[in-house]
Amino acid sequence: MTPAAANGLFLTFEGIDGSGKSTQCRLLAETLRQQGHQVVLTREPGGSTGAEEIRRLVLEGDPDRWSAETELLLFTAARRDHLERTIEPALRAGKVVICDRFADSTRMYQGLSRGDLRATVDQLHQLMISREPDLTLLIDMDPELGLSRAKGRQTSEERFEDFGIELQQKMRAGFLALAQEFAPRFRVIDGGRPIDAVAADVLAQAQAALS
Ligand code: ADP
Ligand code: TYD
Repeated sequence: MTPAAANGLFLTFEGIDGSGKSTQCRLLAETLRQQGHQVVLTREPGGSTGAEEIRRLVLEGDPDRWSAETELLLFTAARRDHLERTIEPALRAGKVVICDRFADSTRMYQGLSRGDLRATVDQLHQLMISREPDLTLLIDMDPELGLSRAKGRQTSEERFEDFGIELQQKMRAGFLALAQEFAPRFRVIDGGRPIDAVAADVLAQAQAALS
C-alpha cells in the first residue's frame, strides 16, 4: 500500500459503546474547520461505500450471527476499503482525518471478546492494513453509564451492546491496557464529565498534535 504523506494528521477516537466518541468527533471536526483546517470526519466500520455495506452485516442481527474469526475478516475487509478510498487519499492531500474507531477496536472486540484472538488480529493487521493513527484519544468511562447512554439511542445497530455489561467492563480494561502498550500515540481522556469539558481536553490534545 502507498504510504501516506507526512503532512496530514490521522486522529482516531476509541472507547466503549456510549462513551461519547461520536459526539466528540463531531465537535472536534467543527472546531478545527472553523480554525481553517480541512477535515475529513469518518467512522468504522464504514467510511466508504463498500465498508458501509459491510457495517450492516456486522452491526445488525443476532449477537451469535458471526464467530469472532469471521467478524475479524469482515472488519478487516471494511477497513482496507476505507483506508484505500477515504483515509489515505485525504492524508496524501494534507487533510486532518478524524476517525470514530479504527484498528484498536478490532484488537479489543475481536481480539478479546470471545477468547484470545489478539495474535491473529495483529497478523492480519500487519498483512492488510499496517497503518497506525498519529494520535488516538481514548474516551474512558464507567461501563454502566456508557451502556445506558448507548441503549438510550434506540438504533438497530445493537449487536455488540447486546453482549452486555461484562463485555463492556472487559473492553474498558482492555482499552486502558492498550493505551499503555501504545503509549506514544494514546491519550486517555475522562469521558464521565459534561460534553464541553471533555471537548476542551480533546481539542487541546488535537492542537498539540497539529502544532
Ligand atoms: P459513542 O459514539 O461513544 O457510542 P455517543 O457520542 O453516540 O457515544 O454518545 C452516546 C449518548 O450519550 C448520546 O446520546 C450523546 O448525546 C450522549 N453523550 C455523549 N457525551 C456525553 C456527556 N459527556 N455527557 C452526557 N451525555 C453524553
Ligand atoms: P460504533 O458505531 O462506534 O458504536 P458505538 O457508537 O456504540 O460505540 O461501533 C459499533 C460496534 O462495532 C461497537 O460495538 C464496536 C464494534 N466494532 C468491532 O467489534 N470491531 C471493530 O473493528 C470496530 C471498528 C467496531
